[in-house]
Amino acid sequence: MSRIRKLVRLARLAALEGPAPLRLARRAIREHAALQRTWELAALVAMVRRQRPRTVLEIGTHRGGTLFCWAAVAAPDARLVSVDLPNEREGIGTTDQDRARFAEFLRPGQTLECLRANSQLPETRDRVVAALGGRPVDFLWIDADHRLPGATLDWELYRPLVRPGGLIGFHDIHPNPGFPDNQVDRLWAQIRGGFRVREFIDQDQPGGVGMGIGVLVQPGSDDPDGR
Ligand SMILES: C[S@@+](CC[C@H](N)C(=O)[O-])C[C@H]1O[C@@H](n2cnc3c(N)ncnc32)[C@H](O)[C@@H]1O
Repeated sequence: MSRIRKLVRLARLAALEGPAPLRLARRAIREHAALQRTWELAALVAMVRRQRPRTVLEIGTHRGGTLFCWAAVAAPDARLVSVDLPNEREGIGTTDQDRARFAEFLRPGQTLECLRANSQLPETRDRVVAALGGRPVDFLWIDADHRLPGATLDWELYRPLVRPGGLIGFHDIHPNPGFPDNQVDRLWAQIRGGFRVREFIDQDQPGGVGMGIGVLVQPGSDDPDGR
């Protein structure tokens, strides 16, 4: 995609949604190391912002880039729950310093619980349910283990917690042969047919790591996107 077409697309998003989603996506990437592409993340932020979720569940937080966005657009009294691995030995996951920073994302009235756990275990799902205080999830973001078995487990364990009409977002829905461990596209291909979906795919750097956001609407209510 040419630079001009890219700028036109960003300008169109800003004209439709105002400057906030783009601004948040840029800050998330520059200041909080979001592993995302600007236009894709901004388009999703705009969608979540229209929904103004009161409960957000993020599976895979890393340095907090996407969590930063959800806190910024969620309701003032939102409950946020993040699940990521501890990084004591492996060098992945979130650190104590990360979690201290995440608290700064919150507005007064919002609360956050960070679970240091393997999302793929049923006991972690139980801890998530407890952290949500039994409330259904308005927005679920799945961006943890990108291999097919792991992504499938996250989908199967956490999708039932999402309310009818709630949103479920996935990162890396675009096939990426250069990165064989990125297999979310295969899960997406299996499930997308059964749902109302939106796809945000930046074709700007095909083949690069991390590409394509897919969002589906949990059946049972009108599309909260309202479009
Ligand atoms: C791609 S990063 C998340 C990026 C983040 N959403 C962003 O865009 O800024 C994936 C994260 O998932 C975590 N992860 C991988 N497997 C996991 C598992 N089984 N349980 C919990 N977290 C996991 C990793 O530790 C890593 O921090």
